[in-house]
Amino acid sequence: MPRKPTPQTTPLRHIAFIMDGNGRWARRRGMPREMGHRAGAKTFRRVVDHCDKIGIQAVTVYAFSTENWSRPPEEINSIMELLSDFLTEAFDRPEDQVEIRFLGDKSVFELPLRGRLEQLEQRTTGRKSRLNIALNYGSRAEIVHSVNTAIKEGKRQLAEDDISTALYTADCPDPDMIVRTGGDMRLSNFLLWQGAYAELYFTDTLWPDFTPRHVDKAVKEYYRRHRRYGGL
Ligand code: IPE
Ligand code: IPE
Ligand code: MG
Repeated sequence: MPRKPTPQTTPLRHIAFIMDGNGRWARRRGMPREMGHRAGAKTFRRVVDHCDKIGIQAVTVYAFSTENWSRPPEEINSIMELLSDFLTEAFDRPEDQVEIRFLGDKSVFELPLRGRLEQLEQRTTGRKSRLNIALNYGSRAEIVHSVNTAIKEGKRQLAEDDISTALYTADCPDPDMIVRTGGDMRLSNFLLWQGAYAELYFTDTLWPDFTPRHVDKAVKEYYRRHRRYGGL
């Protein structure tokens, strides 16, 4: 039986952000790139809080890709320090109602960082909304990992669900919209499987300049789109 077409008014349950443009934001101000990441981290908190406030159930952010390891060590260190600050803050806010998951291969992170990532995931389990932070994340590697999981389970022929259920996002609906700031129009190895039918939204605004007002604009645009899923 062919699948019934999904109504075009699918509510925006899951929004994903490619948080790009931190470096350029800093350069335009004559500051080191690290300052751009610092400003970007503030934007991240504001945007996530706002999404929660307007009732979006799941937010995914692209924080660090597998390809980002090719950046200078000082820049990588500064990003990891910001991650550590985020973890400290998240542990200090037990009243938050967001379940946090890190998408990506955590095994590259050494202890104690890896332990803190896992501990935060455990501590926040069962909370009402979801924040996925893609960290050391690459979508192709994620798909390969998922296929290998199925092979290890002894499966010889895969269905779509066999792949979906072994992705890092297994327990989350697919993103309804993927927003990329910073002016580039590409996915940079982000949610290639999950984003098959995501609405794409590109804006020139650099991530540190992205505000709750910009989120509202993107959401408004989402509800103007007609999601046909191949139908009419
Ligand atoms: C995105 O901003 C943050 C990460 C990739 C970690 P960039 O650092 O890529 O900023 P631009 O694209 O160089 O301006
Ligand atoms: C994508 O931005 C990754 C993150 C936002 C974490 P990049 O700046 O790494 O992407 P490219 O290099 O422009 O494709
Ligand atoms: Mg970039």
